[in-house]
Amino acid sequence: MQNSNIQKRSGQAGRIEELFRTGDLPDEELIQLIGQREPDSAEQLFEKARIRQQENFGHAVYLRGLIEFTNYCRNDCLYCGIRRSNRNCERYHLTKEQILDCCGKGYALDFRTFVLQGGEDMSYSDEEICGIVSEIKQQFPDCAVTLSIGERSRESYQKYFDAGADRYLLRHETADPEHYSRLHPKELSLENRTRCLFDLKEIGYQVGAGMMLQSPYQTIYHILADLRFLQSLRPDMIGIGPFIPHQDTPFKDEPAGTSELTLFMIGILRLMFPKALIPATTALGSIDPLGRERGILAGANVVMPNLSPSTVRDKYLLYDGKICTGDEAAECRFCMQSRIESVGYEVQVGRGDAPGFAGH
Ligand code: 5AD
Ligand code: FES
Repeated sequence: MQNSNIQKRSGQAGRIEELFRTGDLPDEELIQLIGQREPDSAEQLFEKARIRQQENFGHAVYLRGLIEFTNYCRNDCLYCGIRRSNRNCERYHLTKEQILDCCGKGYALDFRTFVLQGGEDMSYSDEEICGIVSEIKQQFPDCAVTLSIGERSRESYQKYFDAGADRYLLRHETADPEHYSRLHPKELSLENRTRCLFDLKEIGYQVGAGMMLQSPYQTIYHILADLRFLQSLRPDMIGIGPFIPHQDTPFKDEPAGTSELTLFMIGILRLMFPKALIPATTALGSIDPLGRERGILAGANVVMPNLSPSTVRDKYLLYDGKICTGDEAAECRFCMQSRIESVGYEVQVGRGDAPGFAGH
């Protein structure tokens, strides 16, 4: 028994060493490593991940100011609290002036990236989105604009890019088509999501993808497919976080994911994608009070404090128990800074582009 334990541990140690050295492992080995993870191997993985993180980024952690500018959504994703059919969700959207006001406050707090995130709210025309983007770029020329507004046509993505948008976040959520169809309404497909991501890359955006972990029906084979998908897309940013149920969705009784798996996967991603921008997400901070600090120690190098006006914060609830819904922008900003410093890292002021990219 003791013997087999030792063997298992040295097997895991060997896998981590190999992943560290080559940035990859055969399918079976990845499945073993992720499926059999143990506290000892997690610690070893995180040590290696920190080596890669520090080689590429030193001790810098990048700040992004998240502006949740609309919770209207045409979609009905089964996991999401702002899904169309949630009648209990009080809807809001911000005007251009309100968004610019958030950016002004954010700029004074050292933010040099603004992430405009929202549901798929078709009441903003492409021209309005472009107007918002170009006005932000004009007023804050040293800032990057990231859009996170879902699936659009290639033509729309091109227009936003031409208006000055630098980056786009669109998680693929799961790379298995059948699993995808169990999490989403029938109008949505992995095929179109993939099309969007490759269009965004071709246009020239810095692109972010990523998956929810331990969403309903997820298996280890789906996680393997996610990693292979990410290898084929080669995104600049990879956002992952645990699934957390929302009381007004069909998945309300499903168990939440664990911070333990999310942290382990951050470590794996750092070794497979050494130069990627990987956030320690709000969802991770929501299921684990020290989740974001632990995320940084597992290889994450981005945090996204909330810049949304406090009047709307508690309305952008994708899942239950979301943190920071009662805090002001400045509170989150300085709270994040002390969290980052508490684990020996420092806030980097600046756009924090993906390696190889500059502003356009
Ligand atoms: N639990 C965790 N993450 C969620 N997201 C949406 N709903 C949930 C949930 N219930 C994530 C999705 C989406 C991102 C903005 O938030 O991955 O891409
Ligand atoms: Fe919002 Fe800590 S990050 S209060």
